[in-house]
Amino acid sequence: MGLTPILKAVALSKTYGDGGVEVAALKEANIEVFEGEFIAIMGPSGSGKSTLLHLLGGLDYATGGRIFIRDIELTGLSDKRLTLVRRANVGFVFQFYNLLPTLTAEENVLVPMAIGGKPAPGWQDKLDGLFKLIELEGRRHHRPDQLSGGEQQRVAVARALITEPAIILADEPTGNLDRRHGREILELLKRSAAEMHQTIIMVTHDPGAAAYADRVIFLSDGAVVKELKLGGDDDIEAIITGLKELGD
Ligand SMILES: Nc1ncnc2c1ncn2[C@@H]1O[C@H](COP(=O)(O)OP(=O)(O)OP(=O)(O)O)[C@@H](O)[C@H]1O
Ligand SMILES: [Mg+2]
Repeated sequence: MGLTPILKAVALSKTYGDGGVEVAALKEANIEVFEGEFIAIMGPSGSGKSTLLHLLGGLDYATGGRIFIRDIELTGLSDKRLTLVRRANVGFVFQFYNLLPTLTAEENVLVPMAIGGKPAPGWQDKLDGLFKLIELEGRRHHRPDQLSGGEQQRVAVARALITEPAIILADEPTGNLDRRHGREILELLKRSAAEMHQTIIMVTHDPGAAAYADRVIFLSDGAVVKELKLGGDDDIEAIITGLKELGD
């Protein structure tokens, strides 16, 4: 694991709404993530986990504080610059896979590359490698509605990995999968991260999923309230205790 923070949030705040009802979803959160780390974000529903992920990935604007990807400050960038920085550095995996229904599995995986303009050299080999990794080599030409939920989620993971982003942001990537398929996704993410030296930040409600991480960051009511380093014998117990302390 590197000693350089690849991602840093300083007093990061997000308040939704203008005029009418305001919601302070994130309140001066400080977070530092090191290269190669696998971080789990946990906390009760509404505590600001998705908001944090969206801000860190440059999908939405902060209303206070600063975000850095390495030494690039995201906060204050124009829309256009932000999009470029995001494309060059970040891959997203969401709970609802957001696959395009009219495209095949293979075409879906290639979407981020197509958006980037010219396909990167060696893309065909990379595509083959990814389909091997997600074990769907025989399903490359199926459309999403011809795939199971777990298979669709694996395609979504491959889509996040095709550009080999340094940072993978995953919002409940195993949220609606059964245990076995959920574990497959986590293994897949972990293997890819190890092979490509990627950093993962994953939101999850599941202590078993969080136990795959190196560190758990707990959010409550928009604030970082606790951090837990994993790697012991009783990680899951410690995670469950941490959640209980938050009243989750
Ligand atoms: N676009 C929005 N406009 C207004 N309020 C929002 C918006 N998105 C989220 N919120 C509010 O911000 C708070 C944090 O929401 P967020 O989605 O980050 O929570 P979460 O921790 O991801 O919850 P969950 O576990 O249910 O996914 C909630 O109170 C939510 O209602
Ligand atoms: Mg959420």
